[in-house]
Formats: sequence, structure tokens, C-alpha cells
Amino acid sequence: MPASVSPTLPIAAPKLNIAETEKQFSTLQMTREYENCQQMNRGLAGIMKRLSKETINTADQTSNTGGFHSDTSLFQRDEPEIATLRTMVGEAVEDFITKFNLENGGGPLPDMKIRMWGWGVIMHEGDINRQHVHPDAKVSGVYYVRVPATRSGGTRDQPGGSIIFADPRPRAHMNPTRNQISEIVITPKVGMMVLFPSYYEHSVTPFKGSEARICIAFNADY
Ligand SMILES: [Fe+2]
Repeated sequence: MPASVSPTLPIAAPKLNIAETEKQFSTLQMTREYENCQQMNRGLAGIMKRLSKETINTADQTSNTGGFHSDTSLFQRDEPEIATLRTMVGEAVEDFITKFNLENGGGPLPDMKIRMWGWGVIMHEGDINRQHVHPDAKVSGVYYVRVPATRSGGTRDQPGGSIIFADPRPRAHMNPTRNQISEIVITPKVGMMVLFPSYYEHSVTPFKGSEARICIAFNADY
């Protein structure tokens, strides 16, 4: 005789008590737009054009292919346009760091000493900035002095001269869903400043046209 099998006893159905989702390890980006910056921008463009003729082009030591890349001592210059931008960048970096630290689980850092340095980049038609990070800083950013009026040279989703940010979660690319967003595209405007954590990979798409794209990039460490 087969061993007798006990009948299945009914069990109490588990009752869901909690199902919460939360964002974890978010990446903060800040976009600022300034007005009344024409005079400063004219001065900054003039300084950059002069530097491109009078100083060494460091583009080939960077993520840039083509274009002019100044050295990183730009914020040490004493022209009023540089001093004004340096103040703007300092305020923006402090604002960003405060929000970044709150977002990343920490509060304000007392006695924070921020070290900043900046450089300028002039790009022309066909120049690109390959995907990269800024490993020796915590916060990075860029201020746009001149951008080409047309956005040609890119694609519908990534207009020419855009800055592209890649999803910084490396494992998130492992098996993406069909509609997963893995890039954020920002199309710069004159007077715009974009700040981001220095680990956030970014690149610049090439563009077409005779106009130059001039920006001042910066790093901050603390
Ligand atoms: Fe960069």
C-alpha cells in the first residue's frame, strides 16, 4: 500500500503590508540661465580668441578632437569679465554642492574650502569632445559664451553642439529595456551654465556651420 498522503492544508494568505519604492543614488544636475550677459560674453569671446592665438593649444591632451583648449589657469586672469564669471561660477558651485550633499545623504559641510579652476574651449565645424569624466574634481560645469545659431550637424534627438550625459550607472546598460533612457541631451544656449558631478560622463556632438562654439569649463574640489 502506498504511504498515505496528507491532504494539503489551507494556509493563511500573506497580506502585503508595505511596497515602497525610492530613488537611490540619484545624480544631480543643475542648469542655470543668466540674462544681461552680452557685455561679459563679448569680453570672454575676445579673451578666448586672443588666447587661441597667443598661448599653447592643449586640445590634444584632452578629450577634444580639434578646436582650441586653453590651459587651466583661466580663472587666475584679472580681466573684469573673468572676475565676473569666476564669481558667478563660485556662487553656482556652492549652490550645487549644498544640494548635491543633501541629495547624497549628507548635510552641509562646515568649513568647506572650495578650490576652483577653469579653462576655455573654442570649437568649430566638425570638432568633437569625446565622452569623458573629470577625475580630479568633485563638481564640474560649463558656461556657454557663444553657440552656433543653427543646430545642424547632429541628429533630431541630438542637435549639433549638444552636450550629452550618459547614464552613470554602469550596470544599468547591461540589459536595458526597450525604452530605457540612457542619455540626457542638453542643447546649450548663450548665457547657460550647466553643473554636474565630475564622475558624470559627457561628450559634445559635432556641428556644422561657420560660427564658433565658445565655452568656459570649470572644476571644483573641496
Ligand atoms: Fe568635460
